[in-house]
Amino acid sequence: MNNSLVSITDYSKEEILSILDSARDFEANPNRKSLDGKVVATLFFEPSTRTRLSFETAVIRLGGKVIGFSDAATSSASKGETLNDTIHMVSCYADAIVMRHPLEGAARYASEISPVPVVNAGDGANQHPSQTLLDLYSILKTQGTLENLKICMVGDLKYGRTVHSLIQAMSHFTPTFKFIAPDELKIPEEYRIFCRKKNIPFTESNELNDNFNDADILYMTRVQKERFQDLMEYERVKNVYTLQNEMLENTKPNLRVLHPLPRVNEISMDVDKNEKAYYFQQAQNGLYVRQAILSKVLNIANNE
Ligand code: CP
Repeated sequence: MNNSLVSITDYSKEEILSILDSARDFEANPNRKSLDGKVVATLFFEPSTRTRLSFETAVIRLGGKVIGFSDAATSSASKGETLNDTIHMVSCYADAIVMRHPLEGAARYASEISPVPVVNAGDGANQHPSQTLLDLYSILKTQGTLENLKICMVGDLKYGRTVHSLIQAMSHFTPTFKFIAPDELKIPEEYRIFCRKKNIPFTESNELNDNFNDADILYMTRVQKERFQDLMEYERVKNVYTLQNEMLENTKPNLRVLHPLPRVNEISMDVDKNEKAYYFQQAQNGLYVRQAILSKVLNIANNE
């Protein structure tokens, strides 16, 4: 058993808070030598901008080195090599593996066969725990607390792995949720059951309008074309919601708009200048949170 991070449920509330504390330290001083001599492999079987580049920047700013691929077509997976063999080989070269894969469960499988820690950088529609930790860090920075917040989640709640991980993580902090999605992309039943079990109040709607005027966090998501089996269904729902600047007028002063990015057209560009827009800072926070995650999985103390 190694120190992998596959699902946000791998971490207790205390471990989550400890990562957020550590991220604050890294934000104050992101350039260190604590990963000197370490090699981290980034294996991206699916496209990425933020996750891969922020993990790689995190390693480099801590004095480590990065190997890996950003396109499976350039790896021997394209010749038929199994994930089992890829992980065995890469673990001969690297001290930790950061992996994104289209198959749900691929990261768990990799963590079970790998002698070095595996960090899940997204597995299909399942989990994206490093995104969740940076979402929590962004919520904490903007709200001053994680407790008793009203969180409105909008868009692709069916395939949105960042939504699924965030619901589980926020369950430690007595949230109230509002889920806004078209019928085709409603939150899966397992997450409704999860909320009921944890006594977390939630409501559902398919109207955006002013449904978030009492929210502290508006968590927008992209309709993910790559997850649809039926592209006609994607065409029907792809433009279902677009947040416009004027829609933020009657919202709470502390409201912040988050989005894991990339966006397509679910947030109008004119929102970017609104002081309630926080999605670019949110992505920047990913650097510090990923420095904290890598330090934890590699058992490296913050002060090294
Ligand atoms: N939020 C996120 O996972 O972005 P990328 O797909 O660009 O990594």
